[in-house]
Parts: sequence; C-alpha cells; structure tokens
Amino acid sequence: MLRVEKAFVSYGRVTALREASLVVNDGELVTLIGANGAGKSTLLNAISGVVRLKSGDIWLDDRRLSGLPSHKTIRLGLGYVPEGRRIFGDMSVRDNLTLGSYFECARNPLSALLYVGWFLRRPSVQSNLETVFRLFPILKERQKQKAGSLSGGEQQMLAIARALMASPQILLLDEPSLGLAPTLVKDILKLLVRLRDEGLTILLVEQDANAALKIADRGYVMERGMITIEGTARELLGDDRVRQAYLGKTVA
Ligand SMILES: Nc1ncnc2c1ncn2[C@@H]1O[C@H](COP(=O)(O)OP(=O)(O)OP(=O)(O)O)[C@@H](O)[C@H]1O
Ligand SMILES: [Mg+2]
Repeated sequence: MLRVEKAFVSYGRVTALREASLVVNDGELVTLIGANGAGKSTLLNAISGVVRLKSGDIWLDDRRLSGLPSHKTIRLGLGYVPEGRRIFGDMSVRDNLTLGSYFECARNPLSALLYVGWFLRRPSVQSNLETVFRLFPILKERQKQKAGSLSGGEQQMLAIARALMASPQILLLDEPSLGLAPTLVKDILKLLVRLRDEGLTILLVEQDANAALKIADRGYVMERGMITIEGTARELLGDDRVRQAYLGKTVA
C-alpha cells in the first residue's frame, strides 16, 4: 500500500504541493485528476524521488520512500512512466526493455548498457520479456527496430512495458494517453484495467477525467496543490463539483 502524508513541495517561491495526502491500497486502480498546474506531476515526481519533499512523508508498505532518490524507489518496487515517455530513441525496442530491468537505468543509461548482456541471461529478465511481449505483441514484432521509429502509441506502450520490466509492486503513470488518438487511448486504458485485474496496483494521472474515472476504483481531485475531493470512482462521477469542473457537464 502507498501512503502519501501531507506532502509539501515548492520550487523556489512556487508552492506546488500543500500538504497533499492520498492512499493507494494493494490491487487498486486509483486516479488523480485536476486542472493544468494543479500539482499532479509534482506529486508523482515526489513519490518516485525525482523531487524532494519540504515536509511530509511517503510510505510503500513499511518502507519510507520520502528522501530516497529515484533509483532507490525503483528498487523498492515503484514503477514510473513519466509525462512524455522518455524512451531511448537510438536504442532498439528490446534494449529499452532490458534497461527497464536494470534498476539504475533512469539515472545512468550508459553504465546500464554494460549490464545488458549480463541481465539478458537472468531468468527473470527472460520471463519479464515474455510477459511484456504477451501484453504488447507489437513490441515483440518490433523488438529489433529503433525505439525512436515507433509510432507515438507504440512508444507509449514501450514506456509502460519498460516500467513493467522491473516487476514493480505499484505503477505510476502520468498522462499515458497524451497525444494519442482516441482508439489508442481506449487501448491503453483497457490495458491498465487488465494489469490491475492481474494484481498490479496503479496510480494514474489523466487529463480525461471521465475516461479515467470510468476505469478506476477510486479517485482524488487535486486543486492548487491540495486534495479537495476524494471518493469511489462512482461517487466522483456523480459529484456535482466534479461534473461541472472536470467532466464538462452542467448540473441540472
Ligand atoms: N521545475 C519547476 N520549476 C518551477 N515550477 C514548477 C516546476 N515544475 C512544476 N512547477 C509549477 O508547479 C505547479 C504544479 O505543476 P505540475 O506540473 O505538478 O502540474 P500538473 O497538475 O501536472 O499540470 P498538467 O496537467 O499541466 O501536467 C505549476 O504551477 C508549475 O508551474
Ligand atoms: Mg502534469
């Protein structure tokens, strides 16, 4: 279970998170929605150790994540697909995936390369590769191709698959559907439901509140760095404030 307790983050004089708290229970798909600039990406960055908390705490079960750099949070079971994919375009699809199982890759892709050969012989890497190829047959077909030559949707699949290669306990995703055609958005969201059904815990940040709440178990609404509304996905879909502000619906 992931617990964020009163997370406070500022960038210089800009306060991005003001004592934001949330919980993601094991096996849940939870979505975090909110307007541009609300602090959603900052919260995911804080959980994964990309930005530091000024105060507050973050726990994954009984392990404290706050204060740890991102390569250590990955090792503790946190998978993160940040905004904008960040795959290595000049490397093959397969090498991008293999890097995913090397914990420090996010920090140091060059040293990670040295480990690719060694990791490839590890049984867990082989079986994780088989798992992600089962989830994303297109990546299996394209495994030798340069990652930069994949389409936008395929690159997003690669980014998710790469995070899965580290066998995370919880997966954080920041707007995985950004820039994708509606049918691909549907595919990505369906995939998240499938991963949740297979036992993965997921925290999803998504612009399309309606689509996210339709697949989520629970949701949180963030405004100006604070969590202002929380509830089951069904409650949020029926909440007048949520409907007006995020679902584009007028309240009768
Ligand atoms: N590196 C940074 N330096 C200074 N300010 C930042 C930085 N990153 C984010 N901010 C500010 O912090 C606030 C929260 O930004 P954040 O990216 O977390 O919002 P968001 O909810 O993810 O927005 P969006 O939906 O547009 O992605 C914004 O006011 C933003 O301008
Ligand atoms: Mg963002």
